[in-house]
Amino acid sequence: MSHLTDKFRAASRARNQLPAVPGQMMEDVLAQASVPRRAVLRGGFGATLAAAFGGSLLTGCGGGGGGGIAAAAPAPGGTPAVSYAVAFKGVPRSTTEQVVVPEGYTVDVLFAAGDAVEAGATPYTGTLLDSTGYEKVAGGNHDGMHFFQLAGVDPSKGGLLAINHEAPDAQILFPAGFTYDANTATAEQKRIALSSVGVSVIEVEVVNGKWVVKRNSPYNKRYTGNTVYAVGGPAAAVVGATVVGTLNNCSSGMTPWGTYLTCEETTDNYLDPTQPEEGYGWVVEIDPQGTFPATKRTALGRFDHENTAYMLDADNTVAIYMGDDSTPGCVYKFVPSAKFNPGNRAANRNLLDSGTLYAAKFNADGSGQWIELTQGVNGLVVGAQDPGNVTQSTTPPAATPVDFATQADVLINTKSAARVAGATLMDRPEWVTVGPDRRIYCTFTNNGSRAVVDAANPRATNPHGHIIRWSETGDSAKATSFRWELFLLAGDQRLSAANQKGNISGDTFSSPDGIGVDPQGRLWVQTDASTGASTTSTFGNNSMYYVDQATKQSTRFLVGPNGCEITGLTYTPDLATFFINIQHPTGSWPSNVQGNTLPPRSATIVVRRTDGKPVGA
Ligand code: FEO
Ligand code: CA
Ligand code: CA
Repeated sequence: MSHLTDKFRAASRARNQLPAVPGQMMEDVLAQASVPRRAVLRGGFGATLAAAFGGSLLTGCGGGGGGGIAAAAPAPGGTPAVSYAVAFKGVPRSTTEQVVVPEGYTVDVLFAAGDAVEAGATPYTGTLLDSTGYEKVAGGNHDGMHFFQLAGVDPSKGGLLAINHEAPDAQILFPAGFTYDANTATAEQKRIALSSVGVSVIEVEVVNGKWVVKRNSPYNKRYTGNTVYAVGGPAAAVVGATVVGTLNNCSSGMTPWGTYLTCEETTDNYLDPTQPEEGYGWVVEIDPQGTFPATKRTALGRFDHENTAYMLDADNTVAIYMGDDSTPGCVYKFVPSAKFNPGNRAANRNLLDSGTLYAAKFNADGSGQWIELTQGVNGLVVGAQDPGNVTQSTTPPAATPVDFATQADVLINTKSAARVAGATLMDRPEWVTVGPDRRIYCTFTNNGSRAVVDAANPRATNPHGHIIRWSETGDSAKATSFRWELFLLAGDQRLSAANQKGNISGDTFSSPDGIGVDPQGRLWVQTDASTGASTTSTFGNNSMYYVDQATKQSTRFLVGPNGCEITGLTYTPDLATFFINIQHPTGSWPSNVQGNTLPPRSATIVVRRTDGKPVGA
């Protein structure tokens, strides 16, 4: 969830007479978190521009080539072994109009909102396009993404990027001063807003030493809020064979068979509320190679999907982990009935249409259960009683009756099913990641209105969020139980309120959101904290951190420009190139480094080392 999503959703919320969810918006989090604002500001540890120059700025491109670089030990036979041991020199917190990276690193802007995607597209260069034009260019609010290898292409020099667009970058779509309101928007204005959400698939390649978008590649394709999607799985009979549009494409994941899973973080179409609500809140499977039709996979449940991460057993059983970014929301896992077929890609085409959906229960003793969400078991029957979000008030809400007569009922009303079945209501689950050692991490970004704590959500009015780590029993995708621990509580010891201190060693942060363990087992965390001064004076702008999984020491790797969220994390297989997304910057970036006068735009950046060695080492 970003604060922009909340703004776009406001009209829909009012139309449906839904209350604003306390704690969902960052403003609420801050209001309820007992922020000792004046003390923070007086404390004088706000970052300064000068502090930022401790690291390399986007325009400066590092220089130096390698302060803090671990020397690669020679391998037998004389070829230097590649070292992935983390040794970069961390950067200080900052609040600037630059992307700040460590010494010896470079940053390039690859793909900004309005850039050309499909063959023949006219990019946005300052002149507004019509809906047909916007349908062919990059959407806004870049979020989750994944790098896919292409057969016959050296993945260090080329491949496909699938990139989510969570919300419109309205500043490049409409005249200055225009505010989009779905209740009054014309059909053309709706088409324009809906063109700028969804997914971009682009072919990227290295030309003259820099990553660029390969113009007019046959792979370059937009999937938008105007595109028609197929519907698969048990709820298709209710939802319909097709749905117009995907939106609020937050984060994402991929499958072992090389498809992209874009996650809809909304259960209604707030940009075009004439569409039935049941069409949204799903995981949508997209084939970046364009072979299979884009399909909403209803077996994975309907909620505010954040991302997906998979575990694959030796016998090719797959588990897909997911979070519901709600205040509060549950953690889920889906295990397909059939096994992944590594020898026949097409055989996996509809693997996600049948299987078992589970929700997680985190017990106080560190054990956990995966509770099956299948009609007829665990209370999922006609006449069930939904206890509601009991964590958000010390006075429990009245239970409401809910009928689960079919599996489609369970899948369309998954949040309620998880509550009925007894899953744990968590502090806004964001990304899940599965490491090479099969340990699983999930970020819980914050919950400013939590009133009732439990072991897995131990802070009332949780302002800065936390990270939980767990291991499946037998490290198996098939497990129905697990062991979990609180990996860290975000916050800063200099803050006076007890619920704001956290226990981070090293560089502190608030509101962890993106998280990924890379193929070398290195844990990266990205933040989506408030961009107001009361937060940035403590933590600086939203940033990306390396966190040592053993010592839990945090080191800041990258700082974004003012107003942005840092999200999206993918890499080439050699880890020499990291692709990262800068979402909703508000100042002069990236025009200040691109040399134009366009409004601030969300963009994908490329981070590399000047010596070409793996990022982070
Ligand atoms: Fe779109 Fe939950 O972040
Ligand atoms: Ca977020
Ligand atoms: Ca997010």
